[in-house]
Amino acid sequence: MAANNKAKLSIAGLAFAGLVSISAAFLEATPVYAKGPAKQPAVLSASAIAVADKYSADAAEQIFKEGGNAVDAAVAIAFTLAVTYPEAGNIGGGGFMTLYVNGKPYFIDYRERAPLAATRTMYLDEQGNVIKGKSLFGYYAVGVPGTVAGMWEAQRRFGRLQWKQVLAPAIHYARDGFVVDEQLEQRRDNAAKDFEGKTNFDTYFGAMKAGETFKQPDLAAVLTRIANHGAKEFYDGKTADLIAASMQGHGLITKRDLHDYRAVWRQPVEANWNGYRVITAPPPSSGGVGLVQLLKMKADLKQDFNGVKLNSPQYIHLMAEIEKRVFADRAQYLGDPDFYKVPVAQLTDDAYLAKRAAEVNPDAPSDTKSVQPGLGTSMPEKAETTHFSVIDKWGNAVSNTYTINGYFGSGVVAQGTGIVLNDEMDDFASKPGVPNMFGVVGSDANAIEPKKRPLSSMTPTILTKDGKVSLVIGTPGGSRIFTTIFQVVNNVYDFNMPLKDAVAAMRFHHQLLPPNAIFWEPYAPIDGDLAKQIEAKGYVLQGQNFNGDVQAIKIDGDTPNPVSDPRGRGVTRVIQ
Ligand code: GLY
Repeated sequence: MAANNKAKLSIAGLAFAGLVSISAAFLEATPVYAKGPAKQPAVLSASAIAVADKYSADAAEQIFKEGGNAVDAAVAIAFTLAVTYPEAGNIGGGGFMTLYVNGKPYFIDYRERAPLAATRTMYLDEQGNVIKGKSLFGYYAVGVPGTVAGMWEAQRRFGRLQWKQVLAPAIHYARDGFVVDEQLEQRRDNAAKDFEGKTNFDTYFGAMKAGETFKQPDLAAVLTRIANHGAKEFYDGKTADLIAASMQGHGLITKRDLHDYRAVWRQPVEANWNGYRVITAPPPSSGGVGLVQLLKMKADLKQDFNGVKLNSPQYIHLMAEIEKRVFADRAQYLGDPDFYKVPVAQLTDDAYLAKRAAEVNPDAPSDTKSVQPGLGTSMPEKAETTHFSVIDKWGNAVSNTYTINGYFGSGVVAQGTGIVLNDEMDDFASKPGVPNMFGVVGSDANAIEPKKRPLSSMTPTILTKDGKVSLVIGTPGGSRIFTTIFQVVNNVYDFNMPLKDAVAAMRFHHQLLPPNAIFWEPYAPIDGDLAKQIEAKGYVLQGQNFNGDVQAIKIDGDTPNPVSDPRGRGVTRVIQ
């Protein structure tokens, strides 16, 4: 992976403007720092993290103590979670990282790509019907992983420590083991039922037991090779050989797919809202566009929201009306920008959103069929994934969401590596161009094509005010990701709630389809009178197990205040 030149970066600019394709360009950026601890003065009282488990928190703490910055800590967290949070942390998947470094926003897209042999109809039978489970479980479901390339790019561009240093905690937990949490065992048990007879999942994770130390020697060997030889080991070395050998005769990924994989620096989506600068994920995520649309439309409906109590029936109705329109746009316009010209500027334009907000019916749910353009897919999106937020005392922030899609991804573990491979191919539209249940043709924007990245909802987000970081936030949750972030941001900034309460508060979700369905969660249920009043408005209540696991940090003055969602096993630390 050679050093960058300026010409390549200017190609990236043109590509973002939709003038050329960058699907084949490898945009390695010039490192910003000579390696070595930071020397500039601190601007915050401490560094802070909000992460999915305590091992990754320990890893981050070690990295900060060694003089690392937010990017070093983030990369150490990502590799550690691949070991200690194997249901969603990963090196066999992909994700997005939003960064704010030295007062400037950045974004790296390391989303998985479809293999070269992928076809538009690969999940359909001879009658053109979707083959149940084929994009979800087993070898065929796997996209070409991007996490190692993304971490390599971010760390070499912005990290202060040596690459080996940031890999060290993950290698330790893989080699020497970590104590398994009950939640992890439970998630393993649930996932194993789906994988039974289809994958080698049990060989690697069958013995994992709550309360006992679990070691992963194959994974330790992979991480050691990556530490010694860099990302190219994963994409061109022994690890690539082992992944390709595992796939042979079962799935599509070849050595060529791995060799060709590239992470891409993209322009984040940015918007002014409520005195803040929102910096968030661009396509191939739908999340950043969705979040900006939600925030701006709610601001446009200030009169309608005036005096409406948080999470009251009227509040839930107005929020659902906004969400209906956002999900209609998502289904029609969002996809991989290297393959499809996504109209980001138009979709987040103030005048456009004011017009959309004016369509909201304050009294009753708008008829689902009338919400144009494009009615969304009713395919349920996997809700798992994981997020972490980091800020260092120099004011640099990382918001990172990454995924193998469902818990334990496809259930395939690349033989001899311990790497859990994703089922991200399920995030493509398996059957575009075919009328859905409402007789509306779904979008081609997210159809399967070789090297294309499937549409995501991951929304790693940073809010700044006057050039300083104010909030770092993200969550897992599939299509619930950006409605979750929307609700927490509203709770903090519109309702002045402390971040802890804002994260813990009840969350609900609407996504156009099923018609007028409001999803609620067991953690803080919509029940009793509230449930009856929502139903009386014409909504159908639908239970769900999961509505996110937010990891967020709010900066008050010069003090970072991290919060982990009480719904998960996340951990926060403030590190001097
Ligand atoms: N696989 C979940 C997402 O990308 O949003």
